Amino acid sequence: MADVSRRGLFGAGAGAVAGVGLAASVGLARPSAQAEAAGVSGQTYSPFGAHQAGVTTPTPAAARLMALDLRAEVDRAALGRLMRVWSTDIAALMAGRPAAGDTLPDMALGGVSLSVLVGLGPRVFELDGLRQRTPVGFQEIPAMRHDRLTDAYSGGDLLLWISADDFTTVAYAARRLVHDAAPWADLRWSQQGSWRGIGKDGQPATGRNLFGQVDGTGNPRGEALDRAVWSEDGWLTGGTQLVVRRIEMDLDEWDRLIRHEQERAIGRDLATGAPLTGGDEQTPLDFAVLRDGEPVIADNAHSRLAHPDHNRGRTMYRRGLNYADDTGSGLIFCAFQSDISKQFIPVQRVLDDFDALNEWTTAVGSAVFVIPPGMREGGYLAQGLLE
Ligand code: HEM
Repeated sequence: MADVSRRGLFGAGAGAVAGVGLAASVGLARPSAQAEAAGVSGQTYSPFGAHQAGVTTPTPAAARLMALDLRAEVDRAALGRLMRVWSTDIAALMAGRPAAGDTLPDMALGGVSLSVLVGLGPRVFELDGLRQRTPVGFQEIPAMRHDRLTDAYSGGDLLLWISADDFTTVAYAARRLVHDAAPWADLRWSQQGSWRGIGKDGQPATGRNLFGQVDGTGNPRGEALDRAVWSEDGWLTGGTQLVVRRIEMDLDEWDRLIRHEQERAIGRDLATGAPLTGGDEQTPLDFAVLRDGEPVIADNAHSRLAHPDHNRGRTMYRRGLNYADDTGSGLIFCAFQSDISKQFIPVQRVLDDFDALNEWTTAVGSAVFVIPPGMREGGYLAQGLLE
């Protein structure tokens, strides 16, 4: 994981004091010193290391994903130049320093949990000499019955996923990086989302999607997380593969359901995220329990169908974001895995056929990216692929 330094903007003590006034005046739980210590807010992540920051680092409140398309004339060498420029920018921005030539240097801040994750889309592997270096299992998502995809949120040759504690920092970094890519690439789509990884009591919590569900509980942890996510495939070792699906959620219809129906669709308690078979959020789901001859976790419940027990042990690491804008409301579903063809795609096929949630969810965007490993100091992103 990327190194975390505690060089916060104010330091933990002063930051906590600054938060007290706000909490007292509006009566909200503030991100606590514990939330900060657990990495949910107020962090400075290192841009260097085996992995890029922004994969398994905690999800801060604000994020923007941007896909760019390479200009037709860009070849492997030109892509290398762009990666060097971005890597230098990212190393500065994440450390809280302005990038070279920055016209707004006063906006650079440390201690705001900024991470910039860079990804490579399928067309990169059509460039000169790169086809045979396409990572195993990296492919586009085949059409699913419930998809209603639009170009507005699909595809892309490059990805920038910028996360921070606030949207001002995200907008600042986004503008700089898109500007500096201009000789080689143009913006294709941009989507903004947020996540609240801090619970009612100000402590780190799993977070909720816009259906009100606790979302992220079943994510693998520890060694299982490492096995699910990190690639050991040649130049990509320490990197991963990412699926981004913009999934529209029909909140009006969802709101018409009674709570029991909402819980039945997922197989978990809405208030706590615990399985309907009992326990707390982290209690394993028990698919065998019956009530009146019927499974308590329904056959078409999302938690059952997506579970590794029903997918030959397949897992992935989900790191979604909620969106609500002029286009609608939903989830920017993001899942990391070492092999898209063996992890996301088979699970998605099962869900497309049987998932209860299909009644209220529709994928409207789809994109896939290879996420290169982290860079070393003095090096650049995707160096192992491009040099
Ligand atoms: C679990 C919501 C789409 C894969 C869950 C859970 C919720 C949820 C509330 C239970 C808590 C948890 O374990 O995180 C949603 C919503 C979706 C959506 C609202 C669409 C808007 C998808 C898609 C996939 C997926 C497209 C993959 C193809 C999973 C997996 C789990 C899960 C693997 C964990 C199962 C386990 O190990 O227990 N989802 N999900 N979800 N979901 Fe989704």
